[in-house]
Amino acid sequence: MHPVSTTRSASTARPAAADWWRQAVVYQIYPRSFADSDGDGIGDINGITSRVPYLASLGIDAVWLSPFYPSALADGGYDVDDYRDVDPVLGTLADFDELIGRLHAQQIKVIVDIVPNHTSNRHAWFREALAAPKGSPARDRYIFRDGLGPDGSRPPADWKSGFGGPAWARVPDGQWYLHLFTPQQPDLNWENREVRDDFLTTIRFWSDRGVDGFRVDVAHGLAKNMAEPLGALPDEKHMIDGTLPAGSHPLWDRDEVQDIYAGWRQVFNEYDPPRMAVAEAWVHPSRRPRYASPRGLGQAFSFDLLQADWNAGEYLRTITDNLSDAQRQGSSTTWVLSNHDVIRHPTRYGLPPKDDRTAQPARDWLLSNGTSPRLDRGLGLRRARAAILLVLALPGSAYLYQGEELGLPEIADIPENRRQDPVFTRSHGTEKGRDGCRVPLPWTQHGPSFGFGAGHAHLPQPGWFGSVSVEVQRQDPASTLSMYRQALSWRHKLQTGESMEWMPGTGDQVLHFARPGGWRSMTNFGPGPVPLPHGIVVVSSGPLDGHQLPADTTAWIRNGG
Ligand code: GLC
Repeated sequence: MHPVSTTRSASTARPAAADWWRQAVVYQIYPRSFADSDGDGIGDINGITSRVPYLASLGIDAVWLSPFYPSALADGGYDVDDYRDVDPVLGTLADFDELIGRLHAQQIKVIVDIVPNHTSNRHAWFREALAAPKGSPARDRYIFRDGLGPDGSRPPADWKSGFGGPAWARVPDGQWYLHLFTPQQPDLNWENREVRDDFLTTIRFWSDRGVDGFRVDVAHGLAKNMAEPLGALPDEKHMIDGTLPAGSHPLWDRDEVQDIYAGWRQVFNEYDPPRMAVAEAWVHPSRRPRYASPRGLGQAFSFDLLQADWNAGEYLRTITDNLSDAQRQGSSTTWVLSNHDVIRHPTRYGLPPKDDRTAQPARDWLLSNGTSPRLDRGLGLRRARAAILLVLALPGSAYLYQGEELGLPEIADIPENRRQDPVFTRSHGTEKGRDGCRVPLPWTQHGPSFGFGAGHAHLPQPGWFGSVSVEVQRQDPASTLSMYRQALSWRHKLQTGESMEWMPGTGDQVLHFARPGGWRSMTNFGPGPVPLPHGIVVVSSGPLDGHQLPADTTAWIRNGG
């Protein structure tokens, strides 16, 4: 294997204010499951505010808040009733202002989620559309069509929604509307001027309140080709694996979507520093640069590592490709191991790899309520710790998901009557859904909902949750929480520039790379121990064995010693 070097200038200065996001560590908060200040079992804004000292002590650069807007929770808050308000169950705009002030006082930036593909069916616009006649301007903000067949009783096209079931729902006067997610999430018509203008108002609204950036939900979905006749859709899978000609899907990743983001960019750049944005776009990697362009959103999530097995070859390929893509597009790479939509990575890494036995071991495991295939929790956690230490040593920004600093696993055995995710109900239980990564955090060893709040947590926590709580881990220098803190603190001290260079020895078992300023990261993907290079180990993901790096372990090494 040949060493690869990325050559972006290795400045030793701190990034300019406008560039703060390029190498930021961003911590995702799923507000309803983070901390509950009023004992109603639902996390809220004041709960987050009460934990600002915890966030500051972690050493993160920014938080990303998943939706906290008024919502009936048909899809965990991604069904927004009003884009410019706070759900009364979670607090008020004044609470939000207080939170942002407290975070900024700790030098922590704030990113909010913006959900432009669809509103909720309780949004004022959708209510208006239902009350208005066919063909009216109110209906034109959404995607209404007549049905097929003599009485229009068949949907306009045979399209499936992302969460199972048809993508069209019928309204009392017989028309149908498009919803690519649940029926409570009607898709907006982005050809409508009012829709475009209103989102610019929303971006200004939050930017004026001091928000530093936006995470753009389903960023690849807004532009649609709805020209009649609406035929069968090509399989989305082929768009993501690149076998579908780029930009040819009528619903996803169309080139025109970038015109929308060019308009947003103008608004982002009205602010000083310019507001940042990161696209959630499940597209082929070759299309990602469009979303990450400085003329558009500026940054895009890469889910490549999240989909990779624990395997040196896969990691090496993914890292090399992502770094060179980012360099080409003038953006910085993003690294994501977990978020609110996927099975937590300590669980994924404790299951058989994808190409062994079954194509989707994690999904099967969830379907069997965590009984099969067999999960090795210890191994999963060891690998998860090694993985994050590797990721935090890389150039680019790292997106962490709440609870991963505690090494939380996915919770598989949530009773069916407590499940909330529409994926579970709409698939008639053939998919378990995403509740298992959204279980409220354990803050204390004992007590009601393990310190999450005074009441019962809205999703059930397992009885052993207290043993992995913040309270327990804070006191243990070998805990996952302590490792995250040490790593983030070292990253702040060591990180300079955006380059890295693979070191000799990188190959089938070991990934070893150097960063500017004289530090290196070495990961042993197993199976046996390997000798550590010369230098001082400043942090490691597990115990070392003399001068050996054990399997499934990462160490950061400083020159010298
Ligand atoms: C994004 C969100 C997910 C949500 C979906 C529909 O993928 O991350 O949670 O269900 O969009 O808004």
